[in-house]
Amino acid sequence: MENLNGSLKILIDHEQIQKRVTELATAIDQDFKDKDLVILCVLKGAFIFCADLAKNIKSNVDIEFISVSSYGNETVSSGKISILFESTQDFKNKNVLIVEDIVDSGLTIHSLLELLQKRGASEVKVASLLLKREKLKKNIVIDYIGFEIPDHFVIGYGLDYQGRLRSLPFIGYF
Ligand code: IMP
Ligand code: MG
Repeated sequence: MENLNGSLKILIDHEQIQKRVTELATAIDQDFKDKDLVILCVLKGAFIFCADLAKNIKSNVDIEFISVSSYGNETVSSGKISILFESTQDFKNKNVLIVEDIVDSGLTIHSLLELLQKRGASEVKVASLLLKREKLKKNIVIDYIGFEIPDHFVIGYGLDYQGRLRSLPFIGYF
């Protein structure tokens, strides 16, 4: 197996991530005080962020999962997502927080927002650990942003390179 860890540099270390996740959870608690919340974890990349976030949120939450493939088989974005898996379709009149690992072009989140609107969610907010703001093509609001990062391809803390390196406890780049 090729050594992918060798030339890795750390962009955001574990401690910085944990501190920021706690801050985001506090903000989410304030905004959703006295409301039930459905956290929608976008698999696979958001699974670690989502778990750490959920552990720090004190409000009453349900956790659901969705897996989407952004661009089908095309290399250039079609702007369409296909749903590979969803743990529920029941979002009617629910307050939903979409939890993503990273927003790049914004097409995935844009499509998910449309989907939840179609499913009748009453309020939808978005939390993303990372945002590459310079790459954003869609005019979308990300309500809770962990870190804005430059246009590097990053891995770790849930984010993968060809399926690997997800389990690293920090955000790194090559
Ligand atoms: P978007 O639809 O262009 O915003 O793409 C978002 C998705 O692309 C994310 O959920 C990730 O799965 C993937 N992605 C974008 N940038 C990176 C990166 O730097 N590392 C790993 N995955 C990425
Ligand atoms: Mg993702």
